Amino acid sequence: MHHFTYLNDSMFCEEVAVAEIAREVGTPFYLYSTATLTQHFKAFDSAFADIPHITCFAAKACSNIAILRLFGSLGGGTDIVSGGELFRARSAGVDPKRIVYSGVGKTAEEIRYALETGILMFNAESEQELNLIQAVAAEMNVMAPVSFRVNPDVDPKTHAYISTGLAKNKFGIPIESAIEVYRLAKQMANIEVVGVSCHIGSQLTQVAPFVESLAKVKLFIGMLKDAGITIAYLDLGGGLGIQYKDEEPPHPEAYGQAIKKELAGLDCTLILEPGRVIVGNAGVLITKVLYTKEGKKKFIIVDAGMNDLARPSLYDAHHSIQAVTNPGREKVVADVVGPICETGDFLAREKQVPAAVSDDLLAVMSAGAYGFSMSSNYNSRPRVAEVLVKHDQFHVIRAREEYETLIQGEMIPDFLKER
Ligand code: LLP
Repeated sequence: MHHFTYLNDSMFCEEVAVAEIAREVGTPFYLYSTATLTQHFKAFDSAFADIPHITCFAAKACSNIAILRLFGSLGGGTDIVSGGELFRARSAGVDPKRIVYSGVGKTAEEIRYALETGILMFNAESEQELNLIQAVAAEMNVMAPVSFRVNPDVDPKTHAYISTGLAKNKFGIPIESAIEVYRLAKQMANIEVVGVSCHIGSQLTQVAPFVESLAKVKLFIGMLKDAGITIAYLDLGGGLGIQYKDEEPPHPEAYGQAIKKELAGLDCTLILEPGRVIVGNAGVLITKVLYTKEGKKKFIIVDAGMNDLARPSLYDAHHSIQAVTNPGREKVVADVVGPICETGDFLAREKQVPAAVSDDLLAVMSAGAYGFSMSSNYNSRPRVAEVLVKHDQFHVIRAREEYETLIQGEMIPDFLKER
């Protein structure tokens, strides 16, 4: 369910015509719907309403501070994986006690920053990281709340690049040996062991792998209890998939039911780190057709490229492409490509797309998750604007970058100034 619909053959985001926004802010731009974001957040969060839980939105999926603030205002928190994301969450006004810090490579500076902020907990991923957290916390004379991410060796049945819970993946501590690190942590003067965490992958379209990993984690929590270690939080990560094309992922309600059933009897607060399922279908990328070309193949050349939306190039991901006006128009099989000097620069490859000509606007659908947040300045292209619609109003929540932004921080050393 989303709020990008047609009225009189013209695409609207809630009550605002997309073409109107394009006229005012130029193209390309990311466009998000407040109603869709809110509805998706609430649908997910309410699936766990009857048990103690915190929905910590995974900032990496869409990290604009307006979006983080929206979820904060709905009672959610943030799952961060870097000092930069912590800075964003703080700038958005997210309650530190609703921030969890995941990730396999935290630095001493990032750990210090998180301890100063007073976050809810670190999800530590190795013994070496534990040692560093202890050292930094000792130096600051504070207690560090730590949970460990265990790797349950479960196949999430998703794209290899975004599978994280297999023994061959770099993430977490093997569940068979994780008890050792808990024992160590318990002895440490500045570590408070508070939880267990687990995240097996992204864009999962079945509940079975979630349930399988939860069953393993539950056994592990039993072992911890026998060893005299009780935990307050169980963090199940994110990963619930969305429909890009013909996938049929479980509804958050069904996901919630399955988790709660498996969870029964565990006395702890559940932490969830959804990203894609909340923002994926709440955002689109609007781009303008520059040219069309036809040789052996048809090409539609648009003003957005792989630097603006990396998913098609990186994962061969499918994003449906719709015409912003006259959606009933003829379809053609074509490549929709960007201006970047790489053959891998495409938004759609040999797909049925609207027959579009110069100046037509196209909407690249389901681009809200890992769209803007993975964008770059490659080919020295200023990053695009982000726009948030609420009812009949639209708000620029990130200005289009200027050429000046591109060279910010760059310097010509003196020896090159002499000629
Ligand atoms: N928690 C942790 C520890 C994670 O690593 C991730 C995603 C999430 C939560 C959120 O997962 P989600 O609910 O969004 O599936 N760039 C890729 C996705 C990478 C996901 C990385 N980790 C893509 O565009 O498909």
